[in-house]
Amino acid sequence: MKDGAYEIAVFPGDGTGPEVMREGLKVLDALAEGGPAPWTVSEYAGGGQYFLRTGREWDAEGEAAARRADAILLGAVGWPGATLPNGDIAGRALVLGLRESLDLFANVRPCRLYPGVKHRISGEYREVWSPKNVDMVIVRENTEDLYTPARGRLRRADETEVAVDTRIITRKGAERVIRYAFELARARSRGAPEDGVRRVTCVDKANVMEGCRFFRETYDRVAKEYPEIERDYAYVDAFTQWLVRNPERFNVVVATNMMGDIITDLAAVLQGGMGFASGGNIGAEHAMFEPVHGSAPKYAGKNQVNPFATFLAVEQMLRWLGDRHGDRRLTEPADRLERAVARVLADGRAQTYDQGGTMTTSGAGDLLAAAVRGEAR
Ligand code: IPM
Ligand code: MN
Repeated sequence: MKDGAYEIAVFPGDGTGPEVMREGLKVLDALAEGGPAPWTVSEYAGGGQYFLRTGREWDAEGEAAARRADAILLGAVGWPGATLPNGDIAGRALVLGLRESLDLFANVRPCRLYPGVKHRISGEYREVWSPKNVDMVIVRENTEDLYTPARGRLRRADETEVAVDTRIITRKGAERVIRYAFELARARSRGAPEDGVRRVTCVDKANVMEGCRFFRETYDRVAKEYPEIERDYAYVDAFTQWLVRNPERFNVVVATNMMGDIITDLAAVLQGGMGFASGGNIGAEHAMFEPVHGSAPKYAGKNQVNPFATFLAVEQMLRWLGDRHGDRRLTEPADRLERAVARVLADGRAQTYDQGGTMTTSGAGDLLAAAVRGEAR
């Protein structure tokens, strides 16, 4: 924070990242019109393409900004052929690296279907799920599990004989993300679409894995502090079918890292596709917000991809900042952005290719910026 303005560090990143970020920043500018902006925005380089040019994933300036900023906005990272010497993707520092170094322990992924949004299934655009049935938040643990860098290969001569990934579940890691999920269920204005009940569903594989049994025990211990919230359990395999058949049952879902990664991509289908999936990587002191879709190299530079995930990431960021600092200057534009997104999606004018439409990325940004200007404060 400087001179009453929150510092937002922006990393457009690779591929379609810069295209969607441009529109996100356009909307952010529109939200700030008519007064002094309660935020400053600075852009920094980084990612796989930057690595191919420079041999580094990002520079010292960007790294310092990420550590100092009140919030981080990330486009996407990853580019074909951009690989670190150890085999990791170049740009890792900006995603997995920040999750680790800033201890962003909760990956918060809302899954809400807006009226007017279609589902692309087998190449056809249909209304499969109803908006009134899809409104949950999946909270994914973000610092451990199979993502813990405790992995490696055993080689004999030049041959890999064994590859090992270690699944680590800690008391601290499980407890804080589960508590986050219960706090969220308490704070949200609505319960599950099915019955209005506030419910936290623990997704795991506790019938087989020790780490999951421990995760579930921790869930039970934390749940005692929240008697007003219903306990609910699902084995991850069964969860995938319930998610598709009965999404209305779910309110807040909590899962370990790897399972959370997988189920949130499936959940994105329910909300209209990855073009609508945003995520907040949230820690005690820092947070980073991103569209979940990745850099989509195939579409880079074509002005075709759907920028709504970025708009929703911007909304998530403003709300997190506003709630954290008790600052209406941030929650008010978050509300306006939420209403503008709903209005533009409902009238069907902003449909990009993934919705069967012809709207461009920048055209959708123009529509959203105009809609934001039209929202009463
Ligand atoms: C995500 C992505 C990342 C992950 C990749 C890009 C490392 O899939 O944010 O869901 O696995 O967490
Ligand atoms: Mn993922």
